[in-house]
Amino acid sequence: MKRALITGITGQDGSYLTELLLGKGYEVHGIVRRASVFNTDRIDHLYQDPHDPERRMFLHYGDLSDGGTLRTVLQKVMPEEVYNLGAQSHVKVSFGQPEYTGDIDGLGTLRILEAVRDVQESTGREIRFYQAGTSEMFGATPPPQSESSPFRPRSPYAAAKVYAHWMTVNYREAYGLFTCNGILFNHESERRGETFLTRKVTRAATRIKLGLQEKLYLGNLDAKRDWGHAEDYVEAMWLMLQQDEPDDYVVATGRMYSVREFVERVFGYLDLDWERHVIVDPYQFRPTEVDALQGDASKARTKLGWQPKIDLDELIRRMVENDLELAAQERTLTDYGHAVLRRGAASI
Ligand code: NAP
Ligand code: GDD
Repeated sequence: MKRALITGITGQDGSYLTELLLGKGYEVHGIVRRASVFNTDRIDHLYQDPHDPERRMFLHYGDLSDGGTLRTVLQKVMPEEVYNLGAQSHVKVSFGQPEYTGDIDGLGTLRILEAVRDVQESTGREIRFYQAGTSEMFGATPPPQSESSPFRPRSPYAAAKVYAHWMTVNYREAYGLFTCNGILFNHESERRGETFLTRKVTRAATRIKLGLQEKLYLGNLDAKRDWGHAEDYVEAMWLMLQQDEPDDYVVATGRMYSVREFVERVFGYLDLDWERHVIVDPYQFRPTEVDALQGDASKARTKLGWQPKIDLDELIRRMVENDLELAAQERTLTDYGHAVLRRGAASI
């Protein structure tokens, strides 16, 4: 049985990757941050009783700021594969927390690479490493972007990820480690964090539909993105680590839409006129924006045999149907006089 260790297992991608690997018969270990409230919502459905002898999912406390613990967990688990998905992943937040973002997304990657190098060298057992790179690294480089496009990062988040990208390449070249960078374009899902554009829109539009909310405040409607579904993208991560040679790959749908088009489609799905509800709020603008991302994933298609199965309309259908259900539950509670508090973070 293969063993995998995932940082960021509680995030959107971590949850889908865990499902994929468990389905393939892996034993899956994840690093979780200690929090004062439960932060395992996205993987709770995969929880197994610790007394179950058949258990194949294990959680370990740790943090990408803490190299010592990363090494201890790695030594204990001795995985064949490590997926480094943990990050402060919000671009706008990175302008407010640049140092923290650099520490976790940049140096955090170095910390786990060092642990991998050390454990592999001392045990002689290969540990394959996946780094969660991002299309944000292309930043100001015009589309379409491929593996050969230059990085021109436009945020502290993107700059930290560029550092992590090159450290991952360096550990491959300097120490012969099997390390891969996935350069993934935006991917969303029913589990997407509620402060990212797509989920913010599907949550708000479905609440508007059920009379729970009237307005939606958004920032730049002209930005363009290449949006896929996370379920498809975690498969590409796994495929990278199954190849004979380590390499870097762009993962994208190749289709680009503006934020305005996304909003129109979601409201249209619900028979709503978006212009009656959406207000542009300059608070949501970023100091420097990435105007247009559209990936050329030819290499992943040819070498990995990967291609996305879920297009934008299906992505929207899944997200809206999921969020309609949540809004309906909220509507029922409200109708019975229960006040439902919306979280402040949803306004970020
Ligand atoms: P996400 O939902 O924000 O999940 C991030 C994960 O990282 C969470 O499990 C989070 O834990 C964990 N984390 C945050 N700070 C940490 C720290 N200091 N130490 C250890 N873990 C920490 O992000 P995602 O959408 O799944 O993305 C996964 C990875 O892919 C990220 O590295 C992201 O930057 C990258 N990426 C994402 C996309 C995309 O469109 N989704 C595209 C390209 C690249 P908590 O649950 O405790 O917060
Ligand atoms: N979050 C957010 N909130 N974005 C908004 C809003 C708003 O109210 N209004 C407009 N936007 C625009 C942003 O300015 C950006 O151009 C676009 O919508 C998408 O924003 P996000 O969904 O926050 O994603 P992102 O593209 O900045 O970053 C995501 O994708 C990257 C891959 O390209 C994150 O998942 C990153 O972690 C990931 O690396």
